[in-house]
Amino acid sequence: MLNRCLMPGSWALLVAGLLIGPWPVSLSAEGLSPVALRTEWLQNPLGIDSPSPRLSWKLESSLRAQRQTGYRVLVASSKQALEANSGDLWDTGKVASDETIGRAYEGKPLGSGQLCFWKVKVWDQAGQESEWSETASWSMGLLDPRDWKAVWISVRDKTPLHRDRDQLHLPPARHYRKEFGLPKAVRRATIYASSLGLHELYLNGRRVGDALLEPGWSDYAKRVYYRTHDVTGLVRAGTNAIGGIVADGWYAGYVGYGLLVGYGPYRTGRSIYGKTPALCAQLEVEFEDGTRSWVGTDATWKVTDQGPIREADLIMGETFDSRAELTGWAEAGFDDRQWAPCIRAEGNGSVRAIFSDTMGDREVDLGFRAPPVLQSYPAPAIRVTQELPAIQLMKPNPGVYIFDFGQNFAGVARLKLRGVRGTKVQIRYGELLHPDGRLMTENLRKARATDYYILKGDPAGEVWTPRFTYHGFQYVEISGVPVRPELQDAVGLVMHNDTPLAATFSCSDPVLSKFWTNALWTQRANFVEVPTDCPQRDERLGWMGDAQIYARTASFNADVAAFFTKWLDDVAEAQRSFGAYPDYAPYPMSHGEPRKSFGTAWMDAGIICPWTMWKVYGDKRLVDRQWKSMSRFMEFRMAASSKHLGLSIGNTWGDWLNLGEETPIEFIDTCYAAHTSALMAELAEATGRDVEASNYRRWFGEVRAAFLKHYGLPRGGLKVDTQTAYVLALAFELLPEDQRKAAADRLAEKIAKNGHRMATGFLGTKWLLPVLTAHGHHDLALRLFQSRDFPSWGYEVINGATTVWERWDSYTKEEGFGRHNAAMNSFSHYSFGAVCEWAFRSLAGIDTDGPAYKQIVIRPGPGKGDLDPQAKSAPIDRVDATYNSIRGPIRSSWHRDGSVFSLNLTVPANATATVYFPARDEASISEGGHPVDQSEGVRVLRREGDRVVMTVGSGEYQFQSR
Ligand code: BGC
Repeated sequence: MLNRCLMPGSWALLVAGLLIGPWPVSLSAEGLSPVALRTEWLQNPLGIDSPSPRLSWKLESSLRAQRQTGYRVLVASSKQALEANSGDLWDTGKVASDETIGRAYEGKPLGSGQLCFWKVKVWDQAGQESEWSETASWSMGLLDPRDWKAVWISVRDKTPLHRDRDQLHLPPARHYRKEFGLPKAVRRATIYASSLGLHELYLNGRRVGDALLEPGWSDYAKRVYYRTHDVTGLVRAGTNAIGGIVADGWYAGYVGYGLLVGYGPYRTGRSIYGKTPALCAQLEVEFEDGTRSWVGTDATWKVTDQGPIREADLIMGETFDSRAELTGWAEAGFDDRQWAPCIRAEGNGSVRAIFSDTMGDREVDLGFRAPPVLQSYPAPAIRVTQELPAIQLMKPNPGVYIFDFGQNFAGVARLKLRGVRGTKVQIRYGELLHPDGRLMTENLRKARATDYYILKGDPAGEVWTPRFTYHGFQYVEISGVPVRPELQDAVGLVMHNDTPLAATFSCSDPVLSKFWTNALWTQRANFVEVPTDCPQRDERLGWMGDAQIYARTASFNADVAAFFTKWLDDVAEAQRSFGAYPDYAPYPMSHGEPRKSFGTAWMDAGIICPWTMWKVYGDKRLVDRQWKSMSRFMEFRMAASSKHLGLSIGNTWGDWLNLGEETPIEFIDTCYAAHTSALMAELAEATGRDVEASNYRRWFGEVRAAFLKHYGLPRGGLKVDTQTAYVLALAFELLPEDQRKAAADRLAEKIAKNGHRMATGFLGTKWLLPVLTAHGHHDLALRLFQSRDFPSWGYEVINGATTVWERWDSYTKEEGFGRHNAAMNSFSHYSFGAVCEWAFRSLAGIDTDGPAYKQIVIRPGPGKGDLDPQAKSAPIDRVDATYNSIRGPIRSSWHRDGSVFSLNLTVPANATATVYFPARDEASISEGGHPVDQSEGVRVLRREGDRVVMTVGSGEYQFQSR
């Protein structure tokens, strides 16, 4: 089912099962070759607005134990200069360094729009110089607010602000256009564009780029993103036309659960940031003769709201009346006499409204305010990364057809529809079907998640895809079509931020291999602009608790460095004035300071996620940027906890969705206070903040002491006797070393008494398996991981899951959806998927010692294999995982066959690995068929329990032991 795809690219290759080994290595690279050049974590980005962008590369080599001892970076203002090896912007000269990550640009100051081409060469440990890398590039954005000559424009909007909570209000998308002349041949054209809302741009009838849902989501009162596109190929000397379609998006449309709970202006859940969308776009042109010109949005543009997109809402859906299509509207010569002149956005005046949230009602102004900051979008764009053909067409009722894509995902569908002019086709989306074949939509809550298409009556059929919405679904139901559609008339378009795929995982237990692909699909469905909780119902918020639990797993599955960079801006921006981080970021539901806007373990994402990005990508600049905000949060955190014993103010979700074992919020909070202090100490140390480091270490000590005094019992016992209590106390190292084993034994005993079942919720489950593995109960961890019984990962899979569910038993074959409140039952919720972190770190055994995988730990995690008489599946005897780390591909592929254990290992160039290899002694290990002590790049260090510890340089190895 999963091996169907039409799109090229790493995501599709993975799903096709083609991407089995590590990433292609050019075998000619004998010594070191620098590859995979990135600027600010992105490949050849446009519109960077950091004055000193950071440059990174990876290294390849077909030889073992390769290290970089030096590098030279050249940055040039043209390709020609770079080809001639002239770094007219920057030439670092030879720098003695083994660093390959985040080298900050220090060349000539870069101006707005500057094009930069760069390459790097490196020296290996023998002092041998590499070839130059391939050329990479970036361009600068508009760095000075005065560079923006374009102004914010809008339609003149005389409609009253929507006030009726019982009626959906879904205004049309507006089309904007302008013709302009370019007197001579163009050398380079770049467009910078932003909107309050969502926009798509067109030049001379052609779409600008392939990004969706531009410009992105931020707190528009403070900041808005702009996007940069190279449009050199889309403009020409002579008359040109530029067009933009602008829809409500997060700015003016429905957001989150606002409608459900009655937040927002007049409790309608929409127009959260403002009433009328606005557009700001600026085309910069450089002619062949070196002169320049520009065209920007202003009041000479024209606008219509009579276009075909009659409704356009992210959550509710889109309505397209093809009879109103504006053929040629973005081309020169289009007759726009019926269109209205635009106005400057402020011309719509102030819009007073009563805004409601948990703080009550107050008056706000939803009129236009120019966002004070225009910021370049720092993450990979949202785009269609894969196409899924429908695998089945059903007809549950007369006139109703349901397409099945075989996979739950987020995105839209491309449909071919046929029928007589004026027919209104209804298109609904659902994650599952009822037993009688009807589409299941109860879990969408207030999300209408319905599109409509009105046919113009083209006998050849009409192909349509919505633009300003997306849905979470496996099934598409169409009704109202007079003619039975064909199976190939529907294609699923998978949408998400195009974070590069970074991992593969499979093991001998097919249920768990399947679980990993389910987690990956769930990540893809939810990494849409922010790490959302779920893509289908009226929520899709950047829930902080879910994000902190899952961040490390996310970083295994995909390169999320730039994605989290973007979101952590939202997090810092959403920080409450009193220091707490909110429940979700962006935090749109409030124009004020609701008291209960934060919660233990949710707010802590503001520390845990930057720490994770540092750990995985070595991103210190991110830490520096967040530092003030993080410190303010910690001040709040510690001041709010009385005597370091935890706070129970704010939201108290605690160990959310636990199974009958409530762990008191004060206990959990104390654990998190200690944990975040420890992480802050580490970050302070990593960034040279020695005083802060010792302060945070002291805080950690104080909280731990208070914790032990209040909750500790002799011999590792805890007064709070829940699985999660032991898990958190052990995970965050709150127990004295000599009591940890006893505490872990108690945890194991509790699990055994519970029928070898977890009772943990979101918080406990994330750490459960890692804690068991770290404290002598790896076999129990394996048993839980391989379980098929409720509650378990396997239970979801055998009940038909293609994604990770919000609840272990969101659906069961016996009881259908019967067990739960249908409204709060998402089938695409990544939190419990956080176990993948353990699968990589403790089962495949790929981990980092210190930041950014410079020093790698390889510790394969086979079980003893004979401990579980109840097991319904054979013990895992084979795991094959690859992880394209920030240093390059790491592979741990192990296999146990009777008494023979083998490990195929790849360590990227310029890194070393400590390998904990299961073996009696050194003499029983071979590498590449030879005794290990003769193996190049390997040094045996010591024996530790049932492992032989070796240090291994970069390269590929085949270890075997008997
Ligand atoms: C979300 C969760 C989130 C929670 C807070 C839910 O509605 O879907 O995943 O963390 O609210 O308890």
